[in-house]
Amino acid sequence: MNYRHAFHAGNFADVVKHWVLTLCIARLTQKPAPLRVIDLFAGRGLYDFSAEEARRSPEWRAGIGRLWALHAGGLGNPLAESMNDYLDAVARLNPDGQLRFYPGSPALALAMLRPCDRLTAIEAHPEEMAALKAAFGGDSRLNALEQDGWNAGPKMVPPPERRGLVLIDPPFEAKGDDERLLATASAIARKWPGGTQILWRPVKDRREEAALDAEWRLSGIRSMWRVTLQVDHLKEGQGLRAAALYLVRPPFEVMARIGETLPALSELLGQGPGFGSEIVEVTPE
Ligand SMILES: C[S@@+](CC[C@H](N)C(=O)[O-])C[C@H]1O[C@@H](n2cnc3c(N)ncnc32)[C@H](O)[C@@H]1O
Repeated sequence: MNYRHAFHAGNFADVVKHWVLTLCIARLTQKPAPLRVIDLFAGRGLYDFSAEEARRSPEWRAGIGRLWALHAGGLGNPLAESMNDYLDAVARLNPDGQLRFYPGSPALALAMLRPCDRLTAIEAHPEEMAALKAAFGGDSRLNALEQDGWNAGPKMVPPPERRGLVLIDPPFEAKGDDERLLATASAIARKWPGGTQILWRPVKDRREEAALDAEWRLSGIRSMWRVTLQVDHLKEGQGLRAAALYLVRPPFEVMARIGETLPALSELLGQGPGFGSEIVEVTPE
């Protein structure tokens, strides 16, 4: 378990993932009934761009850094406005307007959940878990557990609230993570057919991604969408250039909101002529 998200926090893939997470939570909190977010690979929750990891690997500059510049430009930018909840959560951590702190998925969830809602955050790395507890342990809505997310996921659903979402955001450094993703998401969908899921996956090869779509179609999961954002042509050995989110049972209107904003976002985050985006209905209702 060598992966440290601090080297990647706020990069283009985090921007898309975190924006979509805030869209889903915003929609789910419109109904009064309590809900639960289950974050199976939570990380430390709070990242500092002045820390050693981000200085050695300033990926955030081509991610949240670009969006922050639009946001800081003031009112009226349509792209920044369509990402309001996400950018507001980042802004609350940086009240002086200088972008230094960045919220990971548990921090974004806590920023948006109401007093009646709950967050279960699973993290296997002891240091990341200790940092998560140090930053947010005092929040009574949070249940932070040092466990294996793959194993814990299916056991955690359905939650007592029977409403909410599961985020599956593994490091994707271990062999077999695609198989684990398929098996875990399928088990969660079987045990909790009404639950929303957001799954993250790096894209190194678009043909491999299409082959995975075919496997999802055989999985029995209904109402699944894929949202892919690519910042340039894919080339081996060039680092991460594309990432996909799979949304299972996205809340009402979330796909429409993503569709309205994704092309402009991919233009903003583009790093070369091969940038682009795609939304695919992988399985129907
Ligand atoms: C991509 S990062 C998570 C980022 C976080 N979801 C966010 O958006 O801010 C993946 C995290 O999973 C943790 N991890 C790795 N293997 C795990 C496992 N088997 N179960 C739970 N957490 C694991 C890593 O320590 C790392 O913090």
